[in-house]
Amino acid sequence: MIIQDLKCNRIENPLGYALSKPRLSWIVEPGAEGATLQQACRVEVALDEAFLNILHDSGKREDIDSISYVPELGLAPRTRYYWRVHVWTDRGEAASPVAWFETAKLDEPWTGRWITPDWEEQSVHPLLRRGFSIHKDIARARLYICGLGLYEAELNGQRVGDEYFTPYCNSYNNWIQYQTFDVTGHIRQGENVIGAMLGNGWYKGRFGLSGITHGYYGKHFALLCELVITYTDGSEDTICSDKGWRCAPSHILDSSIYDGEVQDARKYTEEWSSPSFHDAGWDGVRCLDIDFNLLEARRSLPVRIKEELQPVKVIHTPKGETVLDLGQNMVGWVRFKNKAPKGSIIQLQYGEEMQEGCFYRDNLRSAKAEFTYISNGQPDEVQPLFTFYGFRYVKVEGWPGEVRAEDFTGCVVYSDLEATGTLETSNPMVNRLILNALWGQKGNFLDVPTDCPQRDERMGWTGDAQMFSGTACFNMDCDAFFHKYLYDLAQEQATLGGIVPLTVPSFGLNEQDSHTGSSAWSEAATVIPWNLYLHYGDKAILEQQLSSMKDYVDWIRQQDDGSRLWNTGVHYGDWLALDGDGEFNPLGGTPTDLIATAYYAYSSELVAKAAKALGKDSMAADYFKLSAEVKAAFCQEFVTPSGRLAADTQTSYILALFMDLVPESFRPRIIEDLRRNLEKNKFYLQTGFVGTPYFCRVLSENGHNDLAYRLLLNEEYPSWLYEVKMGATTIWERWNSLLPDGKFGELGMNSLNHYTYGSIVEWMYRNMCGIQPLEEAPGFRKIRLAPQPNPLLKHVKASLKTASGLYESAWSYEEDGLHYRFRIPFHAEAELVLPDADIKDITVNGISLEAGSLSYKEEDRTVNMVLKTGQYEIIHSVKQ
Ligand code: BGC
Repeated sequence: MIIQDLKCNRIENPLGYALSKPRLSWIVEPGAEGATLQQACRVEVALDEAFLNILHDSGKREDIDSISYVPELGLAPRTRYYWRVHVWTDRGEAASPVAWFETAKLDEPWTGRWITPDWEEQSVHPLLRRGFSIHKDIARARLYICGLGLYEAELNGQRVGDEYFTPYCNSYNNWIQYQTFDVTGHIRQGENVIGAMLGNGWYKGRFGLSGITHGYYGKHFALLCELVITYTDGSEDTICSDKGWRCAPSHILDSSIYDGEVQDARKYTEEWSSPSFHDAGWDGVRCLDIDFNLLEARRSLPVRIKEELQPVKVIHTPKGETVLDLGQNMVGWVRFKNKAPKGSIIQLQYGEEMQEGCFYRDNLRSAKAEFTYISNGQPDEVQPLFTFYGFRYVKVEGWPGEVRAEDFTGCVVYSDLEATGTLETSNPMVNRLILNALWGQKGNFLDVPTDCPQRDERMGWTGDAQMFSGTACFNMDCDAFFHKYLYDLAQEQATLGGIVPLTVPSFGLNEQDSHTGSSAWSEAATVIPWNLYLHYGDKAILEQQLSSMKDYVDWIRQQDDGSRLWNTGVHYGDWLALDGDGEFNPLGGTPTDLIATAYYAYSSELVAKAAKALGKDSMAADYFKLSAEVKAAFCQEFVTPSGRLAADTQTSYILALFMDLVPESFRPRIIEDLRRNLEKNKFYLQTGFVGTPYFCRVLSENGHNDLAYRLLLNEEYPSWLYEVKMGATTIWERWNSLLPDGKFGELGMNSLNHYTYGSIVEWMYRNMCGIQPLEEAPGFRKIRLAPQPNPLLKHVKASLKTASGLYESAWSYEEDGLHYRFRIPFHAEAELVLPDADIKDITVNGISLEAGSLSYKEEDRTVNMVLKTGQYEIIHSVKQ
């Protein structure tokens, strides 16, 4: 038995994060002993790794839950806390390895100043440096640092850490994150130098859709840091950003998230951050007045190069272009080995798709997405520092000699999220679809959940994030990632009187259009916290977000004239659905007030459930009542007395069923009308962003599992597999982003990496493989395990590393019947629901169900049983 995956705030050994209440979690792997139940547990927190100086000892307790334990601690700034766990089980006991978390500055005031180059011109990218000497033995050193727009720090000629895009992206007018780095190994006796390079990034560069597209959050480069060196004698020195720093232009001539980067290596200053370099000719800096109250310890996860891809081929196009094909639509950049003579200009342009055999990128709109490099004649590994691209193809110009694939590497860059889910089926096209959704997440989870990563947008659109969040939480441990996004959302909302901005951060979009948010988009405020709670089982997210959730619903309530309908404001409707009037009508055919009212009811209910989970019963009662009133109003407005929906669109039926908007007695008719609508459309979907995420779930959960499989497996337009057939390696924004002849459809808004329709993957985990989190036991401590097989697939399997441990669910059609395989983790259980089964035909691990020890029930050919920790092979044999 081992205890593993020790996390604090669902991050392994977090250094310098916002940690007011550290939430500790771990997983027990039962091992050969076959432990199934926790009997007791003890958590200790100490100031030292040997646990001599213990600050918290829970004692042996029965009520500690490995999903989240918050030790009572008064936290001190800049302090590392070590923790460990001891678990007693039904089959012995085990001790965990030691893990730690370390606080940032907490409330400590800053001694460093914000500094900026003392230049008029704020477009020149600076290098900043300062020397210092050390004469005592060093015990440890930490760098507390922030740079605007973006920074990369160096110490004695070495890059600090392996993160990109620090200090990350959020609504900088509400809060600014600083990072903490352990730099003990960088500092040496004698002379040292600390330095930083700055780029424009989101803060200061061209970004966003509001009228102010340059430097919305700030116009100046700025750096703030404190390097705290602790000596072995216990004394400390702090090297700060101050007027003693020097600066000079860097070799980066320009940088922009949308447009790319220009580097002139001839201007590269060799060894600029080394003590041997003399900065006599460098300029001075001045102090800037940026409010210190904005500074907060980081919440963003690190963004790293997570994978590397080699180009699969070099294409020579009919137009004479040379283009690298990475074989995968990805996000990041290509790194190359420079061998070009001094003064040569190498230019890379990034695009998503070739057209008629040639390089193409009109769908990036105004984003230049380029990289220009002027060689200094020195061999070097070259990559941009302050930009990223969404691409599969790279056009190479100015390359000396033959362009060879091996001189380039695709660096895949995204937030450091742990992969948690795997899915595989017997159908290779479905497997590619699963991968496409995963690549959509990789490409669009670069600090902010974005709509797309390539064109002049790349923003944290709330709707897209909300719709994909369920899938995202199956694919990866998204807890910390979304905690930061939702924290930012709540900050924005607080300045907008409860309105949830269209994008988070907003980049002024709401102010610009005095836009009040759109139903289904603003629901990021309610849906994402609820998904996190279901997946990670931790009430902390509800505590953090409850007032944001409530403020949002209260804001809708202010729009409602008492009718309990939401029929005001501007909404995006069932965005990009195919049933709207006119050829390019993006709003779809479902009335926007129907969608808005549906979400009004749904969000009110989520607020009520969140309040209930937090023990706020009277608040819960208020919002349950509100939700019931909205549902009644929905029926009065949109459903006839005999149960017919006013709008005959797939999305209307889906919402009515999924959000439980109609009385039970109306459901059969609505289900039948949805089926009829599908039939009318030759069993093809017509839905957009709102209906699609729930479509297959509604079918499987309402007696039409076969139609869910049919929808999944359709191969003509519009369908998921049409995209796969057309060679997609990510999820498209539109069902017909590429037309059957391979040409781009609409160009004004057409990305090939937009994850919303990837939300089908949630159905695969929940219904196809049947792994369903339960509201009453969140964090997968207990699940409903209800696989819904269909012979259109021969076999499927899913594994899911949850907050409670690893689940597996698989089924396959074999000659003797349907075989299921399940794995239930330690101290967890599953309520298994087998459809269309007869107890007489079932064996569990080789023993007939009736003869075995499992208790079971059968009703209407559905067999229920409870599976405890362990592995199971269940065969439902078919009579020959
Ligand atoms: C984005 C979407 C977003 C939408 C709002 C688009 O430009 O790319 O994904 O949700 O605007 O309607």
